[in-house]
Amino acid sequence: MATEIPQSTPPTVAATAAEEEEQVQDQGIEADDNTDADSAYDGGYFSDTTSLTSSITRGRLENGRKYQALREDYWGPSDGQQFESMEMILSHLMFLIHDHSQPQPLFRSPIKEPQNILDLGTGKGDWAIDVADEFPSAIVHGVDLFPPPSPWVPPNCFLEVEDILQRWSWRQKFDLIHLRLLFGAFTDPEWEHLYEECFAHIEPGGWIEQVEADVRVLCDDDTLPADSNMASWGPEFLSCGERSGRKLDTIDTFATRIEKAGFVDIHEQDYKFPVGPWAKGKVYKELGRANLIHWDRGLEGWAMWLLTKYGGPPPWSKEEVQVYVAKMKLEMKDPRIHSYVRMRRVWARKPGQSKH
Ligand SMILES: C[S@@+](CC[C@H](N)C(=O)[O-])C[C@H]1O[C@@H](n2cnc3c(N)ncnc32)[C@H](O)[C@@H]1O
Repeated sequence: MATEIPQSTPPTVAATAAEEEEQVQDQGIEADDNTDADSAYDGGYFSDTTSLTSSITRGRLENGRKYQALREDYWGPSDGQQFESMEMILSHLMFLIHDHSQPQPLFRSPIKEPQNILDLGTGKGDWAIDVADEFPSAIVHGVDLFPPPSPWVPPNCFLEVEDILQRWSWRQKFDLIHLRLLFGAFTDPEWEHLYEECFAHIEPGGWIEQVEADVRVLCDDDTLPADSNMASWGPEFLSCGERSGRKLDTIDTFATRIEKAGFVDIHEQDYKFPVGPWAKGKVYKELGRANLIHWDRGLEGWAMWLLTKYGGPPPWSKEEVQVYVAKMKLEMKDPRIHSYVRMRRVWARKPGQSKH
């Protein structure tokens, strides 16, 4: 029966500039012992540059999954399997299904003619691409730690590789900065720093908008067995977040942080996304179906890094994670269990008069 859901320091090359100047005067030009003429001629220098690019493209392999190469402290894999789950909904399609009847399903900030938009931690870039399509006169930047897997982007959309905790390279100010599902990515001081950067890079009267997910699988009608993996999933991951120093309770803290950074006019919208098509109503059935596929594809990737590093203690083995995930997949497909996950959207304005 359907149930109702209410609503690093850089490597030392030479010493100081002065020492380098002295070396040059003393020694003149000498060949580097490690670089013979032939290797330079056959592309050795070129390989030096390309090796950086290709390491970013290749990423790191761990427990059979691929991770981006820029930071070692982010939990999410960036491989085909994970892109599939990101696309397959949570990050995009599910919000479009839920908000299809909103005047603007892509965001709630009341911006009319945006010129510059930034999507932080853009993932595959689905949101940035759709927004660029929707606002052809705007320039949309999407940024993440790995090169975008999207084969095609609109001409006004730029998907870039940057660590958003490092100094930002954008000189323009933005009408809207968007973040989605960055839970567990940053320490408390890093979040604070990030919101300060957002505040500094948003036009007066411009908007910040963020959407976050609760890692706990919830249930309102006691159909989720207390001894199930689904029930233990949330507490297990909240503990991993505590141990890693990058908490996974972002859904409960980000609105306050946004306000603390100086934004005003704070709006919140809470969502319940059913896992499986158990809830009443066409939209919730579609949402539930999509969410089930999303969890089915995404589970291992979400679990592997965190549990093998911060699970336990002691941390879990790869095989333990695989068994846990397999059991959880079975539970999620049980129609007697009426589970859902919580999402929260917050949008807020930078004080001042908007130009648009
Ligand atoms: C769960 S994914 C969400 C992707 C996208 N926002 C969406 O909703 O589909 C979080 C993304 O944040 C990115 N990320 C984490 N730390 C980052 C950092 N320091 N700089 C840039 N991107 C980062 C990850 O690589 C990952 O793609």
